Amino acid sequence: MANLAVTYLGLKLKNPIIIGSSGLTDSIDKIIDLEKQGAGAVVLKSLFEEQILAESARHVELDKSFGYDVHDYIHNYTRNNKLGDYLKLIKEAKAKTNIPIIASINCVSDTEWVKFARKIEEAGADALEINISLLPSNHEMRGVQNEEMYFDILEKVRKNTKLPLALKMSRYSGGLANLIKRISWSKFVEGIVLFNRYYRPDIDIDNLKITSGSIYSTPSEISYSLRWVAICSNFVDINIAATTGIHSGRDVIKQLLAGTTVVEIASVIYKNGPKHIQTMLSEITDWMQEHNYENLDDFRGLMAYDKTKETAAFERIQFMKHFAGIE
Ligand SMILES: Cc1cc2nc3c(=O)[nH]c(=O)nc-3n(C[C@H](O)[C@H](O)[C@H](O)COP(=O)(O)O)c2cc1C
Repeated sequence: MANLAVTYLGLKLKNPIIIGSSGLTDSIDKIIDLEKQGAGAVVLKSLFEEQILAESARHVELDKSFGYDVHDYIHNYTRNNKLGDYLKLIKEAKAKTNIPIIASINCVSDTEWVKFARKIEEAGADALEINISLLPSNHEMRGVQNEEMYFDILEKVRKNTKLPLALKMSRYSGGLANLIKRISWSKFVEGIVLFNRYYRPDIDIDNLKITSGSIYSTPSEISYSLRWVAICSNFVDINIAATTGIHSGRDVIKQLLAGTTVVEIASVIYKNGPKHIQTMLSEITDWMQEHNYENLDDFRGLMAYDKTKETAAFERIQFMKHFAGIE
C-alpha cells in the first residue's frame, strides 16, 4: 500500500497536498471540509501587513489617551476585530481538526507588524508562511535592494517567533538560484514556497479599461515552478513547497520527481471543489503502485537537475525544433 506521509517544516502530514492560502481556507467550516476530503494541511487566507498596521493604528488612535502605541496594541488589543478573528480561526481550526494549520501573512516591509507573529504562535498555529510580495517595479530600487528586503523581514520575524517558517517568494530575481540558496543557508526559514502567483492585469481594448486577467491558474503554468524546483532541490537543504498550475495527481508526481517536499493548490479546488483532493490522491497512489514505490522518498527528486542527464531541459530558455517539436 502506498504511503503518502511526509514531513514538512517539521510537521507530520498524511499526504503532500496542502490547500494554499486563499478564500478556500478562510472559515472553520471550509477547513473542516478540506480535512474531510483528504487535505494534508491548510494554509490560512493571508492577513495583510497593511491590515495589521491599519487596525493597530485605528485602535491606537482610539486609545491615545491611555498612551498605547502600535507595539502595545499588537500585544494587547487583538480581540474584537479582524486580527482577533484571525487568531480565533487558528484556535478553532486547531481544536476542531487534526491537520497542521499554517497561518499566513502577506507583507512587503519589516515594520511593526512582525510582532504579530508572536500572537499567531500563541494562538496555536503549527507554522507561519510569510508571503513577501515584492514586485521589482520601483525603478529607483536596484535588484539587490529588493533582495535584501527578504532577509530583513525574515530576520525580524524569526526573532519574534519560534514557529517553523516558510517563505512564499516571488520568481522575479536576476539571481534567483543564488537568492534561494542564500535564503536556505540563512536559517531564518525551514521552507520556501515557489512561487507567489500575482494578480494579473489585462486591458479591455473596446472600453479602454484595466481589467483582471485570469484569477485561476491553468495546468500549463506548472512549468514555472517545475523548472525551479528541479534546479533548486539540487542544492537547498530546507523544504520546498511547489505551487501554481498543479491541477492533478500527475502534476503532484511531476513536482515530487523534481524534488519538492509538498505542493500547495488553490485554483483546481476553486474549479472542481474539495472532493477533487480525493481524485488527486488516488492518482498518486495508483501511479506509485504501478511503479512499485512504497513511499514518496522512493521517487522524490529522481528527475531533479542533478539526477537527470537532461539538465539542459531545465536551463534551456530558447525554443528549438528538437525540444519543442515544431519549426
Ligand atoms: C482566489 C485566490 C486567492 C488567493 N489568496 C492568497 C492569499 O491571500 N495569500 C497567498 O499567499 N496566496 C493567495 N493565493 C495564491 C494561492 O495560495 C496559490 O499559491 C496560487 O493560486 C497558485 O496555486 P494554483 O495554481 O493551484 O491556484 C490566492 C489564490 C487565489 C486563486
